[in-house]
Amino acid sequence: MHIESPTRREVCLAILLLVSLLFVSRSRPDFDLPTSVQTGSSDKQASQNSSNVEQAAAPQPLRDRIRWGAGEIPQTKILAHVPGWSIFDKLYLLNGTLYLVSDEPSKIPARSLMISTGIPIENGPIEQAKQVPTDREMQIISRRDAKALFGLDAELIEGVSWLVNDDRQFVTHYYHWSAELFFGFWRAYSSLDPSITSEGNTTLPSPRRMIFIHIDADHWRDYALMNQWVLRSSFPSIGLEFSADWSERAETGRLFVFDRVVLADRSAAMHGFNYLRTQRTASEPFALPGSVNWWSTIRSNVIQASGLRGDIGQGTTSNPVITYVSRQEWGRRMLVQKDHEQLVAELYKLRDNYGYEVNVVSMDKLSRKEQFQLSARTTIMMGVHGNGLTSLVWMKPSPRSTVMEFFYPEGFAHDYEYTSRALGMVHYGFWNDKYFTSPDVPPVNYPKGFQGNEIPIDGAAVARLCLERLTLSEEADD
Ligand SMILES: *[C@@H]1O[C@H](CO)[C@@H](O)[C@H](O)[C@H]1NC(C)=O
Ligand SMILES: *[C@@H]1O[C@H](CO)[C@@H](O)[C@H](O)[C@H]1NC(C)=O
Ligand SMILES: *[C@@H]1O[C@H](CO)[C@@H](O)[C@H](O)[C@H]1NC(C)=O
Repeated sequence: MHIESPTRREVCLAILLLVSLLFVSRSRPDFDLPTSVQTGSSDKQASQNSSNVEQAAAPQPLRDRIRWGAGEIPQTKILAHVPGWSIFDKLYLLNGTLYLVSDEPSKIPARSLMISTGIPIENGPIEQAKQVPTDREMQIISRRDAKALFGLDAELIEGVSWLVNDDRQFVTHYYHWSAELFFGFWRAYSSLDPSITSEGNTTLPSPRRMIFIHIDADHWRDYALMNQWVLRSSFPSIGLEFSADWSERAETGRLFVFDRVVLADRSAAMHGFNYLRTQRTASEPFALPGSVNWWSTIRSNVIQASGLRGDIGQGTTSNPVITYVSRQEWGRRMLVQKDHEQLVAELYKLRDNYGYEVNVVSMDKLSRKEQFQLSARTTIMMGVHGNGLTSLVWMKPSPRSTVMEFFYPEGFAHDYEYTSRALGMVHYGFWNDKYFTSPDVPPVNYPKGFQGNEIPIDGAAVARLCLERLTLSEEADD
């Protein structure tokens, strides 16, 4: 090969480039991290201290390891526990196995109520037996045994981690994420702050990371791309780790210790009493203490990221907003077409006679931002049983906020009924012209026709109930 020596022109160009690069890098403003990273709070002092970017005055080792040496190994502390949801301080991780260190094993819940093998969940005794956790997933050991196994120190996983032991099976779906896994995580974690305010102010730190033991990076998002919006707008600085990262930690052969971890396991939650009543894994943590405003922290962050005030939809004095989430273009689980048309006509009559805002929408036709904004403003949300109703989690609970869910007659499932009540809202199930509400709900049932496109609804009955809900609460508010 033959390389020509550079021409004068090429040398000049190279020098010019170098000079301009130098200029650009020098003309950037000096970083002044503690003040430039302020979080919007007017309390300068507090926000400076709460940001973690200040450097130490003198060089020192990074505080990312704890060492007990010849002293006592810190025991694992269980801060909160219900089936499937557990909060631990100082939970150990070695070679992919979680260790609870305790000299009082009788005070530790049964292992199968905390964790499972994390395989996909199928019904039947043979499949259930495969979910029973083994020493591979979790062990409970004394301090003495821990000392022999662990050595003198551990790598520290700082701050709060949310640890998911589930298969991807129920994760890649907006409802199962926002109204189950994420919902349950926040409900369990927020039990540590029972005084969350109605604006969502809390003393809890954001979780630093979410760790999926069995799921890879391509299998936590949903087809409507909502899961990632909800996560990133709730906790903008959260980091994610997946199955490959879990294996890498295991393969180091090093001992890790979680400062604080919230562990979720769907299979373990299915042993709980509340689950057996509602089929909702997120119903378990409601047995823990909690603020009535527990969800407002998340709601407020997500709604603000969509561009509205975090408390939008509040109170009972603004003009009511009725949103009918239509599935008529979805192709599955649809209303009888003329019943759909009649319902729309009845709702528009309410608009014309009472001035209510009425929206008839297919959620999948709206942008994500529009979906969050509309649901945040909605007073009454209605529609056929389906994922579009997941948006009810962004409504602002108030004495008149209501969810109306249409089922094929005799059909019923708890998904949206339970979730509405969990947020402090009223839910009505409709069977054509009949409706029911908690505690008088029918048993779970999927009759023939449940998934079909001939679901009947009496639009006039729905409109009458809307009027009743909106006028009663207006009186109650005075
Ligand atoms: C912030 O940190 C400084 C120095 O560590 C301390 O003197 C001050 O009291 C702290 N302020 C608040 C509001 O915590
Ligand atoms: C680590 O876990 C793997 C998988 O269970 C196992 O085969 C291996 O023997 C374990 N290594 C040690 C050192 O315990
Ligand atoms: C919530 O936090 C905001 C921002 O710090 C503050 O302005 C507001 O007064 C707080 N509300 C309550 C009830 O503490």
